[in-house]
Amino acid sequence: MQVDLLAGTAYRATMLPRHTPTILVFDSGLGGLTVLARTMQAHPGAHIVYAADDAGFPYGGLREDELVTRVLSVMERLVARFHPDLVVIACNTASTLVLPALRARFALPFVGTVPAIKPAAALTKSGLISVLATPGTVARDYTRELVEHYAGGCDVTLVGSTRLAGLAEAALKGDLVDDEAVAAEIAPCFVTRSGARTDVVTLSCTHYPLLLERMRRLAPWPVEWIDPAPAIARRVVQLLGPDPSPDRTGANEAVAVFTAGTGITGPLRIALAGYGLAEVVIEPIPLTH
Ligand code: DGL
Repeated sequence: MQVDLLAGTAYRATMLPRHTPTILVFDSGLGGLTVLARTMQAHPGAHIVYAADDAGFPYGGLREDELVTRVLSVMERLVARFHPDLVVIACNTASTLVLPALRARFALPFVGTVPAIKPAAALTKSGLISVLATPGTVARDYTRELVEHYAGGCDVTLVGSTRLAGLAEAALKGDLVDDEAVAAEIAPCFVTRSGARTDVVTLSCTHYPLLLERMRRLAPWPVEWIDPAPAIARRVVQLLGPDPSPDRTGANEAVAVFTAGTGITGPLRIALAGYGLAEVVIEPIPLTH
């Protein structure tokens, strides 16, 4: 199995684009913004397409066969419209399942994000680590294999949150999100066993870093929270090579694409603009079961 943090694939230098590259950052919703921000910083000259499959959100609730079909069909449309040079699947729920099918279908480099279990095992002192993810991600064979390969000596708690991704979306859209709701979702991550307690939590859904400040504040005790976004951005730079136009720092040409667009509130537009996504387009791709 592919066991590195980013589930990346090496591409020969001859495949790298010589023109200004277009990077497509894809998620079921707004979680990929946490990855987008780091990717834009790392490659400020690139053209950016941020695609949110909000018609399919949340992916955490989809059956595995439905999710594979959905991601392939949405990607078909996005690749045909935007011709990316590289795609970041900024979604653990999709990456832990769909990357092999994507790589088989498209002649493009795909960078995925999968639970940071190896770094968590390296970081823990107590030996108790928790993986906070969607129910889909914690149920994956891929996630269980990561635990077996890299965290054999650790006590790993897999926490599948049904609500946290939705709460992160709500917060970004300007809705009131109760502290109690967030506290209840993260509570199972905090485990005490024989006098030891959890000291590392991996944020294995890209939505969760959107709530990081709040989670730190509500945590029953301090822990290391692992956000994989910086590592993903480094992998993008590795694959694309150095920025061809580093003088354009902060000047990414960027567009946000939504497959439904029904939840685009005023506060969300402002938040998107804050991520450099002032242009928003809708590419309707209804979810069919
Ligand atoms: N952001 C996605 C992830 O990293 C999942 C959210 C969803 O359930 O759609 O897993």
